[in-house]
Amino acid sequence: DRAKERAKELLARHDAVLVAHYYVDGDIQDLALETGGCVADSLEMARFGRDHPAKTLVVAGVRFMGETAKILSPDKRVLMPDLDATCSLDLGCPPDEFAAFCDAHPDRKVVVYANTSAAVKARADWMVTSSCALAIVSHLKAQGDKILWAPDRHLGRYIQEQTGADMLMWNGACIVHDEFKGLELELLRKEHPGALVLVHPESPRSVVEQADVVGSTSQLLNAVISSQAQEFIVATDNGILHRMRQLAPGKTLLEAPTAGRSATCKSCAHCPWMAMNALQGVVACLETGVGEITVPEPTRSQALGCIERMLDFVA
Ligand code: MLT
Repeated sequence: DRAKERAKELLARHDAVLVAHYYVDGDIQDLALETGGCVADSLEMARFGRDHPAKTLVVAGVRFMGETAKILSPDKRVLMPDLDATCSLDLGCPPDEFAAFCDAHPDRKVVVYANTSAAVKARADWMVTSSCALAIVSHLKAQGDKILWAPDRHLGRYIQEQTGADMLMWNGACIVHDEFKGLELELLRKEHPGALVLVHPESPRSVVEQADVVGSTSQLLNAVISSQAQEFIVATDNGILHRMRQLAPGKTLLEAPTAGRSATCKSCAHCPWMAMNALQGVVACLETGVGEITVPEPTRSQALGCIERMLDFVA
């Protein structure tokens, strides 16, 4: 716990606040909450960072989350515990190929998931996160817009099926959610017939089809807190279980099965990049200033538009 105490000292000394995602390790989530920071999904992280008066934001998550914070708060210093923490969705959507895709379909509104680089956002009309994507796409459909969607094909398909919108999809996936398996989930449900099945929409269709609740991390967390059920099967990154256990003590949480299960790792549903965030990294970035996020102009101002459009929509 020396690292934790040191991190607390440094956060206070540097007028810094820790903004953490639900998928990072529990000790960092706890540090954020104990020091006036937040533990949240991408949407809330963006809002919290923008509205907080601290001079420095320490963003514990993956790179696009730090970039979004910097785009919204160019005058704040944004640090990350490990700049190599990236995201398979972001990696799978290179800005130049994405620009060519957009150029080929100029009649479509470009809607991108938060899990993309600043350069991809710079080409987009709208950014969405999993907690507001359905509402925003429904709104665009009602306006008669056709959509170019990137990068998560599972989330895109789910939204397309729910809204009936005309969506042309990029072919990306999250390496964590893509591994949840429908057949194994069926077997687990048979062993636990009373369990409520909570599924993140980045999961394959065979898994989403078995869900009692489909939603973002914050929506799945709310389902655990507010439901009468005592037992839940959770199909999203298992980092969320820490907060679920804190907010719903006594409830039983089972991880949904993934491929590659073994005796020691029944689920393996944990993002390797989220796992790079460590207390030592929080200390190091505050001590030395390494891990600072920069987003060059004009990319920053171009990317700002689609993020603000989303924030205004959900306000
Ligand atoms: C996010 O928005 O942070 C990720 O999609 C995970 C989630 O909250 O659903």
